[in-house]
Amino acid sequence: MSVWAKHQIFEKNSIVLLIGILIVVAIGGLVEIVPLFYLKSTIEKVEGMRPYTPLELAGRNIYVREGCYNCHSQMIRPLRDEVERYGHYSLAAESMYDHPFQWGSKRTGPDLARVGGKYSDEWQRAHLNNPRSVVPGSIMPGYPFLAKTPLDSQHIGQMMKVLALEGVPYTPEMIEKAQTDLIAQANVDDAGAADLVKRYPKALARDFDGNPGTISEMDALIAYLQMLGTLVDFKTYDKKANVR
Ligand code: HEC
Repeated sequence: MSVWAKHQIFEKNSIVLLIGILIVVAIGGLVEIVPLFYLKSTIEKVEGMRPYTPLELAGRNIYVREGCYNCHSQMIRPLRDEVERYGHYSLAAESMYDHPFQWGSKRTGPDLARVGGKYSDEWQRAHLNNPRSVVPGSIMPGYPFLAKTPLDSQHIGQMMKVLALEGVPYTPEMIEKAQTDLIAQANVDDAGAADLVKRYPKALARDFDGNPGTISEMDALIAYLQMLGTLVDFKTYDKKANVR
């Protein structure tokens, strides 16, 4: 039988062709998947990464609840235009404590992976209340109710417990102090803030929503936005990794 005649077996019989396709595709899949089982971790550890503080975590929940990911990605690709616009490309380790991750697949607005520290709290407040007040042509919806809604944080410790089960390194002490840490971060409380930073290096403690009396959803969301992409120090990271 010539090669041509053998190939006709596949061409004339759709079931044989289907099985042939499955076998070929499976080989491709195995080549990609099997090596992963032999790696201890696919994520390279990076200095500076820590779990979210209770207040940041609460802010992240609001981000997810409001569907901000429908318009904003949180992943800077290693392409020149992205790196020039948004900063250092995202590392896998930077979303290793994200359950679920917020990489997103749509950019109606800009990427937010490194928006932390880009604007003042006042700007973030004004922008979230009414984006048009600071960016006249903006099509982002306003979220004025966030500043008026007190943050419901009674379950934050339990949520940290669940995340710990998923591998986020929350210690029993962090979980126990969840409420104290949350309050210390949103209020002007120097002693509490010093204690918070011991557990969560680089945590920013201040009155994010400009209303010292209450802890609002705005406090939590801005605390989250202001820390995005700020944990890894890329001056030392790039030196070690010898890139750029
Ligand atoms: C309908 C799409 C849409 C949704 C939903 C949306 N945004 Fe936006 N966002 C935009 C657009 C467009 C811009 C760019 C114009 C501007 O700055 O307002 C933007 C800009 C921003 C910026 C400024 C980024 C920068 O680098 O200048 C931040 C921060 C932001 N959005 C946060 C949020 C948060 C937090 C939420 C959820 C509460 C949210 N956005 C929901 C469309 C959206």
